[in-house]
Amino acid sequence: MAYRPYVVGVQEVSVEVVERLKEGASGETLAELLGVSRTAVWKFIRKLENLGYVIERKKGTGYRIVRTPDLSPYEIATICRDLRLIDEIYYYTVVDSTNRRAKEVAKPKTLFIAERQTEGRGRYGRRWMSEAGGLYFSIALPPQLPVEEIPKLTLTTGVAVAKALKAMLKWPNDVLYNGRKLCGILCELFGEIEEPMVVVGIGINVNNPTPSNGVSLKDIHGREFNRLEVLRDVLVSFERHYFRLLNGEWEDIREEWKCLSETLGRNVVVRTARGNYEGKALDLDGDGGLILDTGGKIVKIFSGDCFYA
Ligand code: BTN
Repeated sequence: MAYRPYVVGVQEVSVEVVERLKEGASGETLAELLGVSRTAVWKFIRKLENLGYVIERKKGTGYRIVRTPDLSPYEIATICRDLRLIDEIYYYTVVDSTNRRAKEVAKPKTLFIAERQTEGRGRYGRRWMSEAGGLYFSIALPPQLPVEEIPKLTLTTGVAVAKALKAMLKWPNDVLYNGRKLCGILCELFGEIEEPMVVVGIGINVNNPTPSNGVSLKDIHGREFNRLEVLRDVLVSFERHYFRLLNGEWEDIREEWKCLSETLGRNVVVRTARGNYEGKALDLDGDGGLILDTGGKIVKIFSGDCFYA
């Protein structure tokens, strides 16, 4: 199935035009700003209405946005103008999986975001329930990180998101609130082995219904959240931590991960491809592995599914 995104460049003039429309502008002014005909202006207005904007038309004064949807590619582009990591937005009302789209389009510095996903992907081939009201997005990163640093990137993403959402972490990077899952992170590598691309997929339960082990920001705080504000906080935090990692601050990030971790000091079972390990979680190793005391024997686990025993 072909999924049709709205594609908006962060620096496109149309992004400024939408801001201008919030104050009101005549058809003539808009045509001039956009460098298009009056018919094209009318089409642009229709496009905005399809995205959920409510636009008032008044004879003499022209067009004015009187209601803005809480998420739209133009609003997202506006918050991305201050970021260095995102040049373009691919916005879908519905899509199979934003990670899958990001891998197919393979354009670095692009944010793929959807209102709903029909095949949201979780770790270990699990499904990520993606009903309306949540945030589901993937960032296709520029090829700046060596492959061996990717496990650190996953943990760094967890730290960035947990800080933005004021939540805790379960190894490796589940973002939890009172032991229930608030956000899932799925980092995937693809492309050439010498220069792979990395996609960081993030699903946040905001105002959406969640499965029984999940929790949303709405559940926690008892009110609806503005998804654009949540997205901005998470993107700003992600970018800051991403550049810290690139700038060699991994040791500090690792310490922050430990402070945010619910896992260290607990008895856990970790399911891995090589079997299950049970023991006390002692530390986060310098490479991002979990150090376990399995009753006298110390083991280091690089990837796996962690459960509290
Ligand atoms: C997990 O299992 O905890 C990871 C879940 C990751 C879900 C997000 S939602 C946006 C992005 N697109 C996907 O298909 N998955 C990730």
